[in-house]
Amino acid sequence: MTLIAAALPVSLPGGISATITTAPVLAAAFDSTLPQPFAACWITFLGTFEPRDLRRELPWYGTLYNRASWILSVFAAWLALTVLQPYVRGGDPVTTTVQLVAVGSTFALVNSFLALMAASLRTHTPLGRVWALSLRNTVLGLAAQVPLGWLMAAIAVSVGHWAAALFMVPLLLARYSFSRYTETRELFFGSVSALSQAIDAKDGFTRGHADRVSRIAGAIARQMGLSEKLIEQIELAGLLHDIGKIGVEDRVLMKPARLDEDETELMRRHPIYGAAILEPSAALRPLVQFVLHHHENFNGTGYPEGLEGEAIPLGSRIIIVADAYEAMTSDRIYRKALGHDRAMDQLNKYKGIQFDPKVVRSLEQLIAQRGPQAFEASTLPPINYETLAALRQRLAHAPATRDVNAG
Ligand SMILES: [Fe+2]
Repeated sequence: MTLIAAALPVSLPGGISATITTAPVLAAAFDSTLPQPFAACWITFLGTFEPRDLRRELPWYGTLYNRASWILSVFAAWLALTVLQPYVRGGDPVTTTVQLVAVGSTFALVNSFLALMAASLRTHTPLGRVWALSLRNTVLGLAAQVPLGWLMAAIAVSVGHWAAALFMVPLLLARYSFSRYTETRELFFGSVSALSQAIDAKDGFTRGHADRVSRIAGAIARQMGLSEKLIEQIELAGLLHDIGKIGVEDRVLMKPARLDEDETELMRRHPIYGAAILEPSAALRPLVQFVLHHHENFNGTGYPEGLEGEAIPLGSRIIIVADAYEAMTSDRIYRKALGHDRAMDQLNKYKGIQFDPKVVRSLEQLIAQRGPQAFEASTLPPINYETLAALRQRLAHAPATRDVNAG
């Protein structure tokens, strides 16, 4: 059962894969008819080999690390079980539950910590981000598997080991919900990204403008120590901040000359349009305030409301800096990039006037750490508006859509 469970991992963002191996592995530790702790450790060692281990997709030390972290987690769980065993009165629900919670928490603590460390080192992602992206969502699934493991062992002892196999049904259901979570998330981010590229194309910006604004804004937000949830909202708002330009007439949006007063007035409505476009979607509603105020100046001379200082949502204060920095450090049709140094000079010159000085300082610190090339290029490939024949040919040779559940 552990081998079947291990053969069906689900990849989560942040380099973590979730499995349903926890329940059968813990069942092995709970099973008092087996010679412990050797039985649990051996079952864990042999039963947690995944297809990627056999395909040699991981370096040998990766496979070793994973086996070691599984065995350590199960051993710690067994230790907790044994230490508490003298206090458990047979059949008493309170002490049994306490023991179960202790065993589960010990397992989860050791297992999550080791997985977190490995994923963070491997993907160079900060610990907090891996936690927010993946583990936060797997801990609940992991916790749910603990009582299931206990039940499996109880049924195996009283009815027979064959009966424990029936538990594969709820376990496979749990796996299904994991994979649905990943699919939904990818669908959401893919759609937002496609939308933001459509805005770039309409705006006449180089492709990836919004993508770079989003990455710079997210990095500033992280530098300022904001919560991962807020960082994600700011990144999404960075992608969609100019979505309201869809509602601005082309003659204004694309005008190569300076805008007159009426045209400026029309152009200045785009944050309001953007807010109106995002508002009906429950998933996008937290971004509305950031998009609505992304042209508010720190001294209150911006639009649409003329908010001042801290009254402007922090996300908007970050996006306006990221937007300005991105615009100055990338080439436009009508001018070459100013370059990092001159862009920073401009940001410093207008801090306290247009920009929040705290945000500018954070961007400065960030670039001092990562170097001026940190946000140089977008990772997106350029859009080529190809002919129908070229498109057909490319699609015929493109690799099949990647299966998110492939592990
Ligand atoms: Fe804008």
